Amino acid sequence: MARHLLGLEGTTREEIFYILDTAASFREISEREIKKVPTLRGKTVIGFFYEASTRTRMSFEIAAKRMSADFISLSASGSSLSKGETLLDTARNLAAMRPDGIILRHPSAGAPHFLAERVDCPIINAGDGAHEHPTQALLDLLTIREHRGTLDGLKVAIVGDILHSRVARSNLHALRALGADVRLVGPPTLLPRELRAWAEVTNNLAEGVRDTDVIMALRIQRERQGANFFPTLDEYARYFCLTEAAVRLAKPDVLIMHPGPINRGIEIASDVADGPYSVIMHQVTNGVALRMAVLFLLINRSREVAVPEVEANAQPATLRRKAG
Ligand code: CP
Repeated sequence: MARHLLGLEGTTREEIFYILDTAASFREISEREIKKVPTLRGKTVIGFFYEASTRTRMSFEIAAKRMSADFISLSASGSSLSKGETLLDTARNLAAMRPDGIILRHPSAGAPHFLAERVDCPIINAGDGAHEHPTQALLDLLTIREHRGTLDGLKVAIVGDILHSRVARSNLHALRALGADVRLVGPPTLLPRELRAWAEVTNNLAEGVRDTDVIMALRIQRERQGANFFPTLDEYARYFCLTEAAVRLAKPDVLIMHPGPINRGIEIASDVADGPYSVIMHQVTNGVALRMAVLFLLINRSREVAVPEVEANAQPATLRRKAG
């Protein structure tokens, strides 16, 4: 395991499985009556969110607290950033307080990488601009593997605003590493050219979702769109909203996923989001276990560690490691 978690580009199959196996072993902690283990007692984690977040911020906080770490939350509006302090000065000041890890969400691609070179503690990317969102993709993989047992050979359609989606980029790298076939589906203006080398692309929703095992719908990121990429939201929805009719073209046991937040009736119909194939709430539940695993693996790297109690079917040998 590397010192930081900045992105999934270049991550190997073995590294991804190591994180997923660790996360799978942590799932049962959240089902206990007392949802707390002492694994990160005495550790301090800072959640530094420059952009709005519900799922990522809350699940990192819950994950840290379930492992007995102290979690301190900082947002742009409540920090001295609003007085003109730079990201680097803010981060240096936070690092001077000796946290054991900093989780950063930032609107600029590369901000976590910039910090990782300049502060002396693990940095976890919680979403940097339109670049990567590694923990979201890892929890997506955990959810697919939980339902399908494998990712090898699965056909996965990622539908929507690919251009502005850090979730799509992280998933594309990780799904390919694990042997899945990825199709990117959206209007031509929202399908970046550089990704066409790595996945099938189509502008036709029916073609894109046909015979797929997994469909991931993405939010239209209006806050990142400086130009008009399609005429109106109604028109976008007419061609790209994931409806029941579109889902019927996929495999009969297709998994419907969405990283959230959802724009109902724009990228996904309510009856699909809440329907029998939807695993959207499983994604959210798995987000806690996945983030527990990431905190555990990055923060506990200075000593030999063992997962406190593993599921009956987990492989303990994969969950033990030496100091990195
Ligand atoms: N999926 C996701 O990153 O959601 P939040 O923006 O609510 O954290």
